[in-house]
Amino acid sequence: MYIGTGNGFPWNIKIRSPGGGDNLYLSSIVALDVKTGEYVWHYQVNPENSHDWNDAMDIELADVMIGGRMRSVLLHAPKNGFFYAIDRETGKFIQAGEFARQNWAKRIDPVTGRPEINPEAQYPDGKPFMMYPFPNGAHGIQAMSFSPKTGYSYIPVMEGGRVFVDPANVKGWTYKPGMMVNTGLGAPPANLVPPAATSKLVAYDVANNRIAWSVPQPGVFNGGTLATAGNLVFQGTNDGMFNAFSATTGRKLWSWPAQNGILSAPISYSVGGRQYVSVITGFRSSFANSPNWDYRQQQRRLLTFTIGGARKLPRVDPVDEPIQDDPAFVVDADKAKVGAGIYNSSCIICHGSGMVAGGAAPDLRKSGVPLDAETFRSVVHDGALMSRGMGSFAQLSDAELEGLRHYIRQRARETAPKGK
Ligand code: HEC
Repeated sequence: MYIGTGNGFPWNIKIRSPGGGDNLYLSSIVALDVKTGEYVWHYQVNPENSHDWNDAMDIELADVMIGGRMRSVLLHAPKNGFFYAIDRETGKFIQAGEFARQNWAKRIDPVTGRPEINPEAQYPDGKPFMMYPFPNGAHGIQAMSFSPKTGYSYIPVMEGGRVFVDPANVKGWTYKPGMMVNTGLGAPPANLVPPAATSKLVAYDVANNRIAWSVPQPGVFNGGTLATAGNLVFQGTNDGMFNAFSATTGRKLWSWPAQNGILSAPISYSVGGRQYVSVITGFRSSFANSPNWDYRQQQRRLLTFTIGGARKLPRVDPVDEPIQDDPAFVVDADKAKVGAGIYNSSCIICHGSGMVAGGAAPDLRKSGVPLDAETFRSVVHDGALMSRGMGSFAQLSDAELEGLRHYIRQRARETAPKGK
């Protein structure tokens, strides 16, 4: 049994483990004996790990001719931008190559399998570093797929940067309890802003350890992939399309409007001699999309396709909800700054970058809840919506809760359509 392990926190190893060291078994692939559960081998993908890398991405097993020898390999394309082939019987590193833009490692040493980390990427002495890939990954949790026919792995890839920098109090940093995100990082300098992230579908040629083809895709987060024996790759995208590509060339061959963004991986199966492809529609992202899928209006469905299938979806007309406001609410810039710090560490991942939601949670600019201090407290502090997926941030002080309300109002006004 192969397990891809997660990261450690705080992310910053200068705080987590000031004495250094590999920090086993963070960011590793660990093989256990399936009968006894006993440890067999491990391969640590990112020793030290100061960057939120993890190996929670899917792992695939295949037999591939590499260097003139048939190898039983384990394939893995984690967040860090390298595509790994490991001998799945011994855990020995075979090869790794870049499947996306990365600048944190010079290379993965072909003999030891250890990354040669670019020293700047460790953001030493308080020097900020714009790192690629960003912590969403070059490849996130949307599954890739491998086709024994082409020998390619099909990976939904994101390309974006994130600034890593020590916090001012790197020596005296303290852990914040509760649901707060403890990165152990500082706020990036205002003049260092990564360009908007992009995405693509990448076919990685495993035997030759290089990209075979890639096609640009909309937005940042796109769906998992399915490679079929009919030489197709199926994948949903964040613009609400369900697509089929040629597995050999990446040419788009078929496309169907699914009325919602898609992140899940399709599956294929046959019943009574008829072949089906099924996919779940549903969308969440930390970034706005085009179109942007409203959390409360999403069409979350299981769609099933077959050759000759003729049924259509009922028509849907999403409503563009207005941004809420109360003219009597006067934004205090200092309070908003307190709120921004909390929002950008602990709310952004669900409620969206810049306060514009990307489908994982309601858009707080469009919610009446932050306009009323008491209701806001009952939701954010007391956990009134806990059973619906909004946790309780009970450790937030009154000043922090108030700061959040001011920051939400500030962003709502800054992003409101002009002339309204
Ligand atoms: C893990 C994801 C997640 C995180 C992190 C998160 N939220 Fe939420 N939040 C949700 C979801 C999901 C809902 C919708 C619950 C429902 O269906 O009523 C929600 C609802 C809310 C609402 C109510 C909106 C409305 O109109 O009903 C507010 C206000 C809110 N969140 C504020 C925050 C704040 C402030 C933070 C950070 C301190 C935060 N949330 C962090 C997922 C999250």
